[in-house]
Amino acid sequence: MIKRKFQFSNSSVDYYFEGKISKIKEIVGSFKTVFVTDENVFAAHEKQFKNRDAIVLKAGEEFKTQATVDSIIEQLISMEVDRKTFLIGVGGGVVTDLTGYVASVYMRGIDFGFVPTSLLAMVDASIGGKNGIDVGVYKNMVGVIRQPSFLLFDSSLLQTLPEAEWKNGFAEIIKHACIKDVTMFKQLEQNNFISYQRKQKELGALIQKNALLKTKVVQQDEFEKGDRKLLNFGHTLGHALENQYQFSHGHAISIGMAYASSLSQKMNGFKDANRVVSLLEKYGLPTFTQFDKDKVINVLKMDKKKTKDSINFILLEKIGKAVIKPISIQQLYENL
Ligand SMILES: NC(=O)c1ccc[n+]([C@@H]2O[C@H](COP(=O)([O-])OP(=O)(O)OC[C@H]3O[C@@H](n4cnc5c(N)ncnc54)[C@H](O)[C@@H]3O)[C@@H](O)[C@H]2O)c1
Repeated sequence: MIKRKFQFSNSSVDYYFEGKISKIKEIVGSFKTVFVTDENVFAAHEKQFKNRDAIVLKAGEEFKTQATVDSIIEQLISMEVDRKTFLIGVGGGVVTDLTGYVASVYMRGIDFGFVPTSLLAMVDASIGGKNGIDVGVYKNMVGVIRQPSFLLFDSSLLQTLPEAEWKNGFAEIIKHACIKDVTMFKQLEQNNFISYQRKQKELGALIQKNALLKTKVVQQDEFEKGDRKLLNFGHTLGHALENQYQFSHGHAISIGMAYASSLSQKMNGFKDANRVVSLLEKYGLPTFTQFDKDKVINVLKMDKKKTKDSINFILLEKIGKAVIKPISIQQLYENL
């Protein structure tokens, strides 16, 4: 395992790259541990949970709720979990978001760490300290910013990840490349997702590169006042589409990135919209699609990023460089 320490404003986080979940004892030492996972991850990696205290949740975004938080807390109480216990979230972003949130409020805060098991959680969701739950249709409405003590990256866990989830992860990886890393963009153009699935070493390196990229953005702007907002590239339209249609998150933000790239070309002198669209398609992601403009624009009008009649949109200047620009709702409507 390669250990690296990263400092955030209130705490530091140990990252273990090329790790193995079976070696978790080397990280937590003699601390009591309780694992939190979901039924899919548990079924796919049952051996890893043998002889361990584990709370197994129903899988899926619809369970990222207060009711699940209450149920985890009740189980922690019945297990007599105290402040000397490590809560370890082993799963995708739903599990890590929930685990971090529960650990932040249970007994006013206990230690926690993550073993992300989805590609999206490895490159995005487990990093940055945002933990929380959904309230009705409002995603991530309630939560805290608190960093885990450690992140353990074990890419072999991805062997059981369903294909659709690989694509969701690649949508975020392509986003990172678009906003911050032209070299990675070119690497992605030269490969495809089957080649990454086959080559463990390249995959491990790609995960590490993305985890570090997100970490750096968060370190510079932990409380989302500036650069961290760039991570929303494709998300403004993407979230509106997710709200109105049954798209997976990865599909929605992929479509959002395609439109944001074309808007960047029309309004920001960006020249490579075609390359972004081709790359998304290469990784099996949807790009331009039919949707009801009025419906989606209505959702966008409610967006947090909106001020008066304009919306703060993330546009590309060139591949690897993004900017935040206000766009009027009218301009957006005309260019979608
Ligand atoms: N905190 C943050 O900064 C942040 C950032 C991005 C996304 N998120 C959150 O992350 C969530 C999405 O994360 P996700 O895409 O990982 O979703 P998820 O946790 O629902 O996982 C996706 C699916 O894959 C399954 N799965 C995960 N790992 C597996 C494995 N190794 N083998 C077999 N099945 C496996 C899960 O059971 C689930 O069915 C959303 O709730 C989103 O809000 C949080």
